[in-house]
Amino acid sequence: MHCIQHNPSTTSLSSSASSIHGQNKFSDIRTQSISVRGRDGGRSMIKCIATSSSEKTAYKTQVSRNENLAKLQAGYLFPEIARRRAAHLLKYPDAQVISLGIGDTTEPIPQVITTAMAERSRALSTVKGYSGYGAEQGEKPLRAAIASNFYADVGIEEDDIFVSDGAKSDISRLQVLFGSKVTMAVQDPSYPAYVDSSVIMGQTGQFQKDVEKYGKIEYMRCNPENGFFPDLSKVFCTDIIFFCSPNNPTGSAASREQLIKLVQFAKDNGSIIVYDSAYAMYVSENKPRSIFEIPGAKEVAIEVSSFSKYAGFTGVRLGWTVIPKELLYSDGFPVAKDFNRIVCTAFNGASNIAQAGGLACLSPEGIKAMQDVVGFYKENTQIILDTFNSLGFKVYGGTNAPYVWVHFPGQSSWDVFNEILEKTHVVTTPGSGFGPGGEGFIRVSAFGNRNNVLEACSRFKQLYK
Ligand SMILES: Cc1ncc(COP(=O)(O)O)c(C=O)c1O
Repeated sequence: MHCIQHNPSTTSLSSSASSIHGQNKFSDIRTQSISVRGRDGGRSMIKCIATSSSEKTAYKTQVSRNENLAKLQAGYLFPEIARRRAAHLLKYPDAQVISLGIGDTTEPIPQVITTAMAERSRALSTVKGYSGYGAEQGEKPLRAAIASNFYADVGIEEDDIFVSDGAKSDISRLQVLFGSKVTMAVQDPSYPAYVDSSVIMGQTGQFQKDVEKYGKIEYMRCNPENGFFPDLSKVFCTDIIFFCSPNNPTGSAASREQLIKLVQFAKDNGSIIVYDSAYAMYVSENKPRSIFEIPGAKEVAIEVSSFSKYAGFTGVRLGWTVIPKELLYSDGFPVAKDFNRIVCTAFNGASNIAQAGGLACLSPEGIKAMQDVVGFYKENTQIILDTFNSLGFKVYGGTNAPYVWVHFPGQSSWDVFNEILEKTHVVTTPGSGFGPGGEGFIRVSAFGNRNNVLEACSRFKQLYK
C-alpha cells in the first residue's frame, strides 16, 4: 500500500480516497488511515495500512465529532415522540391516532393574514413590488408594530426589536451570543431547546444519569409545592437565567410579585434573564405578559417571542427578540450591538412574505383574528381540563396557557405516555422529557381540531373511568 504525505493545506488524494466510491482495484482489501500529529500539532501525515475484508467498516472522515453534541441524550424530545408515533402506526395501521403531543397548531391561518402574504407574494413577481434581501433586523413597520402592540407603555422601542424566523432559532442565536463560558439556569421542567442549545454550545458538563441532569446547569425546580415558581433562595447564581412564562410545559404563568423577585434576583447577581413569552396572549388572569412590565427589567432581561401560537405561524416562521439598549455587559458594552452582529452574520432576515403576514397580524382585524385563534385553543384547553378534573386527577396549567399538566404520582412519564398511546391511540408528551422535575407528569396540548380534542377526551374517560 502507499504511504502518503498529507498536509491539510494540500489537495492530494490518497488511494484510500478512491475506495470511498468502491473503485479501488484491491476490492477485497480496505485501507485504514492513521493520523500522526505534525510538529505544529496539526494532522499532518496519514499512514495507510491494509486490513482484511473481515474488518470492513463504513468509510469515516478524519473529523472528530463535536464532543458537545456527543453529550446530548437520545433525540430531541419531539422527534423521539414522532418516532414512537410512527412505530405505533406501523403496529396499528388502522388506528385513528390523535396528536395532542408536540404542541403544533392545527387551525387555519385567518384570511386577513394570508391575504396580506398572498399580496406580498404576488408583488414579488412585479418590477415595482420585488424586493430581495431586507434589513437583517426586520422591516421597520413590523418592528414598530411589534413595539407598539406588545410593549406599549413599557419603553421598548422599534430598534430594540429584532425580527426573526422564530423563537427557537433566536434561542440558539442567543447561545452563540453568550458563548461557551457562561453558566446557565433553567426552570425544571422547561422547553427542551434551552438545555439542548446550552449543551451544544459547550456550557455544560456531561449528562449525569443518576440525577438526569447535565453538569453545570442550574435546574430551578418548579412544582405544585412551590406554585411552579422556583425558591430563589436555593438557586445558585448563574450568568444566564432562562425563564418561560406562561410556561411550557407546566402551563403556569408567573405573577407580577414573582417576576419582581426574579428581576431583583438577576440584578443582585448581575445575571441576564432570557424571558420566553411565546404564550403571552394566552394569559387570562391579571398577570404580566412581558418581563418589561417589571420596573428595572430592561437592565437585566432579553425577551424572545413568536407568532407561532397566535396566528398558526408554526410553518410560516416568524418571531422576535427584544434586547433593550439599557442591557449592558460587565464592561459597559451594549448586548444589543453584539446580537446585531450575530444576526448580521448568521441570518439574512425573516422571509419578506412572512413579515407581511406579521404586519397583518398586528392590524386591528389581525389582532381580533389572533384573539379568536387563541380563544379557540383556550376552549380546547377547558375541555381537557374538565375531562381530567372529572376523572379525579390533580391537574395544573391550562388557565393561562394551551397546556394541561396532569399528575400521575409515582409513575414514570414515559410509561404513562406509552399506556395512553397503546390504549387510546392519543399522543401526549411525557413530562420527564422536559427535565427531571417533569417526572410523573404528562403534558396534554390543546392544539387540535375540536373533534379530535373531544374524541381524545372521550377516550381518556374510557381509559380512566
Ligand atoms: C416556550 C417556547 N418557546 C419557543 C417555541 C418555538 O417557537 P417558534 O415556533 O417561534 O420557533 C416554542 C414552541 O413550541 C415554545 O413552546
